Amino acid sequence: MEPLTLDEAVGAEFAPETTYLNTSTCGLLPRRGVEAVRAAAELNATGSPDGGNGFDTVAAARASFARLVSVPGERVALGSAVAVHVGMIAASLPAGAEILCTEGDFASVVNPFVVRGDLKMRYVPLDALAESVRPETTLVAFSAVQSADGRVADLAAVRAAAAVHGARTLVDATQAAGWLPFDAGNFDYTVTGAYKYLMAPRGVSFLTVAEEAQEALTPFHAGWMAGEDIWSSTYGPVAELARSARRFDEPPPFLPYAGAEQSLALLEEIGVESVRAHTTALAARFREGLVSLGHAPVPADSVVVATPGLAHRLDALTEADIVVSVRDGVPARVLPPLQHRRRCGPGAGRARRLKRHRGAAPGPGSRGAGTQAPGPAPRTGRSRQERSPSRTPGCPALTV
Ligand SMILES: Cc1ncc(COP(=O)(O)O)c(C=O)c1O
Repeated sequence: MEPLTLDEAVGAEFAPETTYLNTSTCGLLPRRGVEAVRAAAELNATGSPDGGNGFDTVAAARASFARLVSVPGERVALGSAVAVHVGMIAASLPAGAEILCTEGDFASVVNPFVVRGDLKMRYVPLDALAESVRPETTLVAFSAVQSADGRVADLAAVRAAAAVHGARTLVDATQAAGWLPFDAGNFDYTVTGAYKYLMAPRGVSFLTVAEEAQEALTPFHAGWMAGEDIWSSTYGPVAELARSARRFDEPPPFLPYAGAEQSLALLEEIGVESVRAHTTALAARFREGLVSLGHAPVPADSVVVATPGLAHRLDALTEADIVVSVRDGVPARVLPPLQHRRRCGPGAGRARRLKRHRGAAPGPGSRGAGTQAPGPAPRTGRSRQERSPSRTPGCPALTV
């Protein structure tokens, strides 16, 4: 297949009604994903066997993700959320194991260890992570790209230090996969939430497990779908669990995976390297602009641009239909992988009108005349608080 150019992808697949700079919170679903979810829901509603082609879809999403992060499909387990995968890893550890984490990392890669109550947690600054691995360390658990401010971990250095001391590694690639070329095979475990730079619906996540790390993991979610042959595993104890990492699956929800299959295929067509080149160039321009205005974005070679001191501008940006979000203490901006341009024309005008009349949900026929169909779901009259879920009280920071 001919690779898609970014312009072709943007033109065919995205039609945001805002200047959308919020992929670190939630990526835009491409149109083909919207259509796939809709078609799967129709099948589910109209009496097709098994509620649609869920098994094929899930298998395709697994294979696609595996190719994107350069591991065999047999190493990939599926689920719905990062915290669930990390919970399984945490539950599999012996009491007293030392877990080395990054200060301020995302809760889903830290907290499942904390709630055990019998693990030894150590937190160090991101740039001291590699040098802090020691012989007592059982597992280094950290994000490749920090959610709060976009800093990129020195993956090679942490991997090397862990190898020297015999520690296992767990990388959360949620803020990286999709724009940062990433080889999951370099780590014992990786976890990725797919609803950001992989542009899948919420409810899709991936775990990769290295061959030699599989025996240390207990497949706590193993129901019938974890059987080597699922159709002879439906009742009673499962006679044989999948020999591949599929035995670590959380039983996958079919509807979001219908969207994920399409999003991942789109990303494969475009190529992660193209996305990286495009988005890091945009981020660099954005940083330059901020500096020229006297701001000091957090230094990072990252599409996530965090800028202290800008959180108070959130309301003005929202009024201008620029969708950003606020993160823990540091205003951060995150450029989306593909589509950041505001759409002009009737749809954009409609979005502004809706903003003026917040609270009045539009009826089903209320798309602006001339709006391309099928487009992304029209905005409803939801409050700004709902549209900016990361604007949590006590966290005065901004992400785009
Ligand atoms: C680094 C990172 N990991 C994980 C998640 C999502 O975690 P979960 O799937 O447990 O909701 C996010 C969401 O912002 C994130 O930034």
